[in-house]
Amino acid sequence: MSRVFVTRNLPGNSLNKLRQAGIEVDVWPNFLAPPRNEMLRRVSGVAGLITMLEDKIDAEVMDAAGPSLKVISQYAVGLDNIDLKAAKDRGIIVTHTPGVLTNATADLAFALLTAAARRVVEGHDYVLRGQWQTWHPELLLGPELYGATVGIIGFGRIGQAFARRARGFDMKVLYTSRHPKPKAEAGLKAQYVGLDELLERADFVSLHTPLTPYTHHLLNSEKLAQMKENSILINTARGKVVDTQALLDALDHGPLFAAGLDVTDPEPLPANHPLLKHQRVVITPHIGSAGRSTRLQMAKMVVEDTLAVLNNSQPKFSAYN
Ligand code: NAP
Ligand code: GLV
Ligand code: GLV
Repeated sequence: MSRVFVTRNLPGNSLNKLRQAGIEVDVWPNFLAPPRNEMLRRVSGVAGLITMLEDKIDAEVMDAAGPSLKVISQYAVGLDNIDLKAAKDRGIIVTHTPGVLTNATADLAFALLTAAARRVVEGHDYVLRGQWQTWHPELLLGPELYGATVGIIGFGRIGQAFARRARGFDMKVLYTSRHPKPKAEAGLKAQYVGLDELLERADFVSLHTPLTPYTHHLLNSEKLAQMKENSILINTARGKVVDTQALLDALDHGPLFAAGLDVTDPEPLPANHPLLKHQRVVITPHIGSAGRSTRLQMAKMVVEDTLAVLNNSQPKFSAYN
């Protein structure tokens, strides 16, 4: 009987589909990720792996699984934790969950922007601390969303969904990406610019690239220094796209008014990390895709693609397309 190792329990009952197909499903039962030695032990002899973005899936894991391993289905769209070349070299198919989580993630990015600009969390803390004494014309002022210029870095599925939300708030949209996107641009009245121009003109910058060798520390101290005075940075992409020390400097001494982060470096962020001491940094624990129906859909996608590969047919969401 083929076996599939699933590195965390998934919402809903999609895994039953694998069981009904006669596949043994080994689900890691704990809330925290399997430690490395457990991972290497549990994968031995599996036909499939259903993985999360915290699992480092490299050549060592693939070799520990052995030649039985045919498919790795990632329960996420980002694949930076998986060595795609090592998988390809071994004839292992990798799949992921693009598209279905686009709106949920763009919603969260917009929530972070709204919260950071209008000081929602700071205001909540102020009330909690018993500081609310009066209405005052100068209490907790922040930049306006309406009419602002937003700069989107990485104009793919989520970047464009973020742009649609920004247009709904009458923002002007600038974007940069590897390739200009004339069609999407026309529909969204967005303007393609270089990274430097985007950083110099945008009131708010939102990151939507994958983490690759080219986007690692894409926003370093030099780039962050180019941002507008009192601007806001939103990151729902990957923590390592931003140099954390440079971000702290830009908040302390540089141009940033605030930041909204769903992803951080390191991740998870320890409770005593300096970023958490910043009143104007709003942080969520990597929950971009955490819409209920989104997470159910993602489970269905990884299960169906795992089954497809184990039945020798084409998966729908191959990482190599
Ligand atoms: P996507 O459709 O592939 O879009 C990514 C875009 O980034 C593409 O348009 C691509 O450019 C652009 N890009 C790649 N390298 C770039 C570079 N060096 N400079 C500028 N742009 C670059 O992916 P998606 O579905 O929108 O997802 C984007 C990322 O969001 C994922 O990879 C993942 O890391 C992250 N994510 C996070 C959460 C969360 O929970 N916070 C949830 C989902 C996804 P071209 O199209 O121009 O070639
Ligand atoms: C989440 O971060 C994803 O890449 O799906
Ligand atoms: C504020 O609450 C207002 O009425 O303007």
